[in-house]
Amino acid sequence: MNMSVNIAGVEWKNPVTVASGTFGSGEEFSEFVDLNRLGAVTTKGVANVPWAGNPTPRVAEVYGGMMNAIGLQNPGIDLFCERDIPYLKNFDTKIIVNVCGHAPEEYLAVVERLADEPIDMMEINISCPNVNAGFLAFGQDAHNVEKLTAQIKKIAKQPIIMKLTPNVTDITEIARAAEAGGADAVSLINTLTGMKIDINRKTFAVANKTGGVSGPIVKPVAVRMVYQVAQAVNIPIIGMGGISCAEDAIEFLLAGASAVSVGTANFHNPAVTLEVIDGIEAYMKKNGFENVKDMVGIVK
Ligand SMILES: Cc1cc2nc3c(=O)[nH]c(=O)nc-3n(C[C@H](O)[C@H](O)[C@H](O)COP(=O)(O)O)c2cc1C
Repeated sequence: MNMSVNIAGVEWKNPVTVASGTFGSGEEFSEFVDLNRLGAVTTKGVANVPWAGNPTPRVAEVYGGMMNAIGLQNPGIDLFCERDIPYLKNFDTKIIVNVCGHAPEEYLAVVERLADEPIDMMEINISCPNVNAGFLAFGQDAHNVEKLTAQIKKIAKQPIIMKLTPNVTDITEIARAAEAGGADAVSLINTLTGMKIDINRKTFAVANKTGGVSGPIVKPVAVRMVYQVAQAVNIPIIGMGGISCAEDAIEFLLAGASAVSVGTANFHNPAVTLEVIDGIEAYMKKNGFENVKDMVGIVK
């Protein structure tokens, strides 16, 4: 049974990673999960300087998931390189660093700083608000996405994954723009923008008014988008959105994702990734798949 997958030239031992922002930088989950078993660890988003994040409350429960408006709080790239990369290097897993910024220069500063670090891939979070475009997310404008991807590719030494937002009319247009800009892979979906009113406090449940919805409630939307993007581009797809068990992950693989990320489910079941890996293997045995790659995109 061969669980390995090749994502843009990087060989993962299995197709399972964690979704950025739901697993810290690995250390806080290492008590529950042997990080050596993961195909890759994807870190929380990091910017060129520390970000304080949004005012509290920043998370709320919703039916079938959660809503967050953390605001990409992070320690900045210097502390990240000093503390988090050396920690992850203790494990036999691939390291994917998630990158955020408010302007192209901010993304480029992080990408440049990471060029000589011992990491395997970078995932670019283009759901960040773009100060130059009136705070519309970078990822909501195809022209911006192609341009930013091309700028990043010029200086990056590691393969680049562009992480797509689902808050658009046609996600295939954005995926094609990332591919045209030279992206090595795409990942999707980031959170869906939502709102919750706290009827007792008579105000918004999160101080930011809106928040990103994640968890099982978004899964059908995510599977649909992965399927659509798989028909639209030729680069590998990392699928995510509501994966809570192996069966969920298998849906994404069959729809066209070459690998999957487990996010919100880590919060209530910290060892869920291991169950997903074992469950995919059991499904392969039962269904006669010798290679996990043979499952990818077979539902047309
Ligand atoms: C608390 C929280 C923090 C997140 N932080 C980030 C982040 O820093 N960068 C990013 O690209 N996505 C971030 N995400 C989005 C997830 O990586 C993922 O795309 C989304 O939650 C959908 O997957 P899920 O339903 O399995 O959680 C965050 C999600 C949550 C719930």
